[in-house]
Amino acid sequence: MIREILLVIHIFLACIWVGGILFVGWGVYPAAAKMKLHVQRKFLLSLMKHVHHLFTLAGFGVILSGILLGTVFGPIHSIDMLWHTAYGKTWLAALITGSITLFWGVCIGYREMKLIFTDIFLWREAANGNKKPLYRELIRLAALESVEAVGFTVLIILMVAL
Ligand code: HEM
Repeated sequence: MIREILLVIHIFLACIWVGGILFVGWGVYPAAAKMKLHVQRKFLLSLMKHVHHLFTLAGFGVILSGILLGTVFGPIHSIDMLWHTAYGKTWLAALITGSITLFWGVCIGYREMKLIFTDIFLWREAANGNKKPLYRELIRLAALESVEAVGFTVLIILMVAL
């Protein structure tokens, strides 16, 4: 019974983490690009500040519940299981991929986003007609964020294999 509840929590948090980040990237970000530059900057900065902690907590909860599901409530009871069984190898791969994806989102994606959106010079230049430097930074940010999307895809494949 506890295992089932934990699995529900695990899947629910994964929906918030993956769905939330993809929705911001593929839904909110392109829609905001149609706003006036100064509105866009303020809106995206305040949105990300608002949801950043929620997504980080959700991602942390997915990893923690995944650890419990595989060990305390699952078949992994020794380090040997990690190297010698398909379940152990897949679980370890999920643990590593999940941790890297969360780390990337918090320490690279969000940090870069904050740097770009608080760089007044970039936005002032763009408002004065020189949009190239800002667009270059935004494309770089989108490329950095796509690493997270790859992480999520790998995690979903691993979950099916588990
Ligand atoms: C994008 C992130 C993730 C998603 C969408 C996800 C999704 C899921 C789903 C849908 C299940 C149910 C599978 C089934 O019952 O057949 C599941 C189970 C499980 N997940 Fe995840 N998961 C994610 C990340 C992780 C991570 C990072 C770990 C490891 C730390 C993990 C460990 C587990 C374990 C151990 C189970 C139970 C499998 C079993 O023994 O039946 N998950 N996950």
